Amino acid sequence: MMRTAIMLSVLVALFCGSASAGQNSAGFSPYVDAKGNISFPTDFRSTWVHLGTWVATSKPQAGMGAEQAAPVPGFHDVYTQTSSLRIYKKSGTWPDGSVIVMEVRALAWDDLATGHVMMEGDPLQWFMMVKDNKGRFPGNPIWGNGWGWAMFKPAAAAPNTVKDFKQDCFGCHEPASNDFIYRQGYPVLN
Ligand code: HEC
Repeated sequence: MMRTAIMLSVLVALFCGSASAGQNSAGFSPYVDAKGNISFPTDFRSTWVHLGTWVATSKPQAGMGAEQAAPVPGFHDVYTQTSSLRIYKKSGTWPDGSVIVMEVRALAWDDLATGHVMMEGDPLQWFMMVKDNKGRFPGNPIWGNGWGWAMFKPAAAAPNTVKDFKQDCFGCHEPASNDFIYRQGYPVLN
């Protein structure tokens, strides 16, 4: 009787364990379905590590983006899974299934005892890259050069807006020489 109860709880734990890891049929990432569609990880802020923050205050004065009509000011807060960071620190490469999320938030201001301070306003959008070391989705235009590429707007269950990563993302990420990541902005990686 006792033994059956233990067996049962082990089975339940195993089942729940795999369900909460969110494995799909490809067993690759909880945020990627079998066709390569990418979904948004809502839990990253409280459970992942913060790699660093960029503060874009105006449009670039020169170089890429300088030709844009409107500047895109905001905080760019970047996160990854704790387990991915641990492996990256040892090997210098992102393990399969690593996710890097960049949350863009409006710049807000206040006058406090510490000064005229800038603080984080509403979320504006999220950029996301999912590491794929196996080239799983050949011919799928949101996958390539070792990553899946996604962008989400703040609406409930908003889909990935990337149609073709080469047009939507890669032009700006090709110059980033550390596996297309702007590593210089993340003190914990350097
Ligand atoms: C106009 C150029 C530009 C475009 C287009 C662009 N990015 Fe970026 N991205 C950057 C720069 C520069 C950074 C780092 C500096 C910053 O965020 O201010 C960055 C940072 C990121 C980061 C944080 C990790 C890193 O590389 O440092 C992610 C994730 C990201 N971008 C994903 C995307 C995705 C997905 C797309 C396509 C939807 C995209 N980006 C389109 C220029 C761009």
